[in-house]
Amino acid sequence: MTSPYRSEIRLRLDDAAAQRDVIALGYRREGIARGAGPDREDMVVWARLEDDPEGPAPRVLPDLPGGELTDGVIRVRPLHPDDLAGWIELRSLPEVVATSVPPAAPPREEVERHFAYAESRWLAGEMAAMSILDARSGRFAGQIALYYFQPHLREGMLGYGVLPAFRGRGYARRAVQLVTKWAFNEARLQRVVAGSAVDNLASQKTLQAAGFEIEGKQLGILPGPNGGRIDAVLYVRRRL
Ligand SMILES: CC(C)(COP(=O)(O)OP(=O)(O)OC[C@H]1O[C@@H](n2cnc3c(N)ncnc32)[C@H](O)[C@@H]1OP(=O)(O)O)[C@@H](O)C(=O)NCCC(=O)NCCS
Repeated sequence: MTSPYRSEIRLRLDDAAAQRDVIALGYRREGIARGAGPDREDMVVWARLEDDPEGPAPRVLPDLPGGELTDGVIRVRPLHPDDLAGWIELRSLPEVVATSVPPAAPPREEVERHFAYAESRWLAGEMAAMSILDARSGRFAGQIALYYFQPHLREGMLGYGVLPAFRGRGYARRAVQLVTKWAFNEARLQRVVAGSAVDNLASQKTLQAAGFEIEGKQLGILPGPNGGRIDAVLYVRRRL
């Protein structure tokens, strides 16, 4: 009996363990089959061709070494169900809504989906979504994400926010520094960028403190409230 040239597996988006198993077997992610699951849920399509190289399929966003990044003051780790309440609190703050795309507090079901699919998106190389924890107490202090929209340019984009109780202690700067270092050294990115609304001085100071420099102005890039558009300052840090 001859083996088929193409072997395809469809997996649930929230079943990261099964996706890790097929990656180990050399399956590559092809995309989303909308509504293809037994309950009309979206499924991830993985396939392996007979002449694909032996061994695990390559990943562009590796796991964090040892499961997390830390500098002793903060810990940065992939989203965990324990972080859900803190994440919802953060995303509902008016100043966080104002800097989010779209500028609205997401409904709880959307946040739950974000958490359930986060590992799948990491495995897909699309986004590394992480929580910032206070190292001493272990409490959720904020979030940081690396979006990998431009893999062909090896450029990632950061987004982040810190709960008011933990602001002004250098947590955002530390998180940006830890994730940028991981992006350069482990994920082999060449550029990490971040855009801040022109009036968001806290975020701009954070990026400057983390060693980023201004690259330019992005005209009308952010959707503002009431349908308007907002200019942003684009910051970059390069792997040197
Ligand atoms: C922006 C934000 C993440 C900063 O978090 P933070 O943990 O308080 O920042 P840090 O303590 O690491 O401060 C980093 C630098 O910014 C400066 N800074 C922080 N908040 C500031 C403020 N409100 N005004 C002016 N400077 C400020 C700090 O003094 C520090 O600079 P320094 O090292 O030169 O002294 C936080 O204010 C926040 O969550 N804002 C709402 C969401 C947001 O704007 N996200 C970014 C979207 S691009």
